[in-house]
Amino acid sequence: MTVIPETQFKDLPLKRQGKVRDIFDFGDMLLLVTTDRLSAFDVVLPDPIPDKGKVLNQISVFWFEKMADLVGNHLVTTDVNAYPAPCLPYKDVLDKRSMLVKKADPLPVECIVRGYITGSGWHGYQTTGHVCGIQLPQGLKESDKLSTPLYTPSTKAEVGDHDINISFEQTVDILGKETAEKIRDLSLEIYNKGASMALEKGIIIADTKFEFGVLDGEIILIDEVLTPDSSRFWPLDDYAPGRSQKSFDKQTVRDWLVNSGWDKTPPGPKLPKEVIENTAQTYKDIYARLTGDRL
Ligand SMILES: Nc1ncnc2c1ncn2[C@@H]1O[C@H](COP(=O)(O)OP(=O)(O)OP(=O)(O)O)[C@@H](O)[C@H]1O
Ligand SMILES: [Mg+2]
Repeated sequence: MTVIPETQFKDLPLKRQGKVRDIFDFGDMLLLVTTDRLSAFDVVLPDPIPDKGKVLNQISVFWFEKMADLVGNHLVTTDVNAYPAPCLPYKDVLDKRSMLVKKADPLPVECIVRGYITGSGWHGYQTTGHVCGIQLPQGLKESDKLSTPLYTPSTKAEVGDHDINISFEQTVDILGKETAEKIRDLSLEIYNKGASMALEKGIIIADTKFEFGVLDGEIILIDEVLTPDSSRFWPLDDYAPGRSQKSFDKQTVRDWLVNSGWDKTPPGPKLPKEVIENTAQTYKDIYARLTGDRL
C-alpha cells in the first residue's frame, strides 16, 4: 500500500496539476500520474485515500484495452521500466498509478453520455422537461434509466470550474460535421459497451465523460475512461428509481461530510481514520468487481 497525495518529482517537467492527476510533459508524450487525492463536492480534501490512484489508473487501462476494437487510444505503456530515463528513480511510486501516453491535440468538446437521469440532468428535466435541450417523455422519476442514452456535449469553461452545455449542432460548428458525428457515435458506443459490461458485475455506470484528441489526423480516446472520477458509479443491488442513488465510491465520505456540517467551501475537513479506510477498501472492491482481478 502507498499513499501519494502529490508527486514530489522535482526534476521532472510538471505540465499541470489537476484535482486528482499530476501531468508531466515529455515532448511528444505525457506521463499521467494519478495521485490518491479525493475531491468531494468539488473540493479536494486534505486526506488522500490510500491506493485510490492505482485503482483509477488501472480502471482506465482496463477500459482502453476493452475498447480497442472501437477506437484507438493514447496509451503507450504502463511498464515503468520503459518510461523516459528521468522517471526511473521514481519507479516504485509510479508503478500501477501512472501511464505514459501519446500527446494528442485535445478536441475542445467534452463528450458526456447519460444513461440515467440524475444530477444536473434531473434538475433541468424537473423545471423544463428536457435535458440539455433534448426533450424527454413526461413522468420520469429521479434516477430512471433512459430508454436510450443521451449525448450531451459541453465545452470546457475558460474561467471557473463549470463546463457549459452545448447542443450537438454547436459541436458541428466547432469541429465540423464529420468529427462531431464521429465522437458522438464513439461516445455512445463506448458507453453502451462499458455500461453493459459493468452491469454484469453489479455496477451501474449512470453517466460519464469522454475526451478525444487528434494525433496524426486520427481521432483517439485520451484522458481517463469510465472511472469513478469521470463517471457516476452506482451499486446495482441498491438501485431504485424515485430517489437519489448511493455513490459506489464516495458515499461514506459524502455522508460523513454532510453530517459534519461543513459548508462545502475550501478547505475541506480532515476525515476520520475509519472513513478513509472504508473508502480505500471500497475502491479496491470496485476494481476487483469490475476486472475480476486484484491490484
Ligand atoms: N493524450 C493526451 N494528450 C493531450 N492532453 C491530454 C491527453 N490525455 C489527457 N489530456 C489532458 O490532460 C488534462 C488532465 O487534467 P485534468 O484537469 O482533467 O486533471 P484531473 O486530475 O482529472 O482534474 P479534474 O478532476 O479537475 O478533471 C486534461 O486537460 C486532458 O485534456
Ligand atoms: Mg479530468
